[in-house]
Amino acid sequence: MSEPAASRPDITFCPGGPMLVRGRVVIEDEDGEQHTSTRPVSAVCRCGKSALAPWCDGTHKLLPGWR
Ligand code: FES
Repeated sequence: MSEPAASRPDITFCPGGPMLVRGRVVIEDEDGEQHTSTRPVSAVCRCGKSALAPWCDGTHKLLPGWR
């Protein structure tokens, strides 16, 4: 699969949850490491607690104030 990265990704912020990004994107973490999405829709962690960062692993559902 050699689809080019989207120049303008389609992003949805889930209240109390991750950010959904549609299309092929590259997420750069705080260490400068780049992560390329492999799914049509990727959930990017916003709570900072995912063990699969930068991707959401559902941990936010266990945190107060998140759902
Ligand atoms: S937003 Fe889902 S684990 Fe962080």
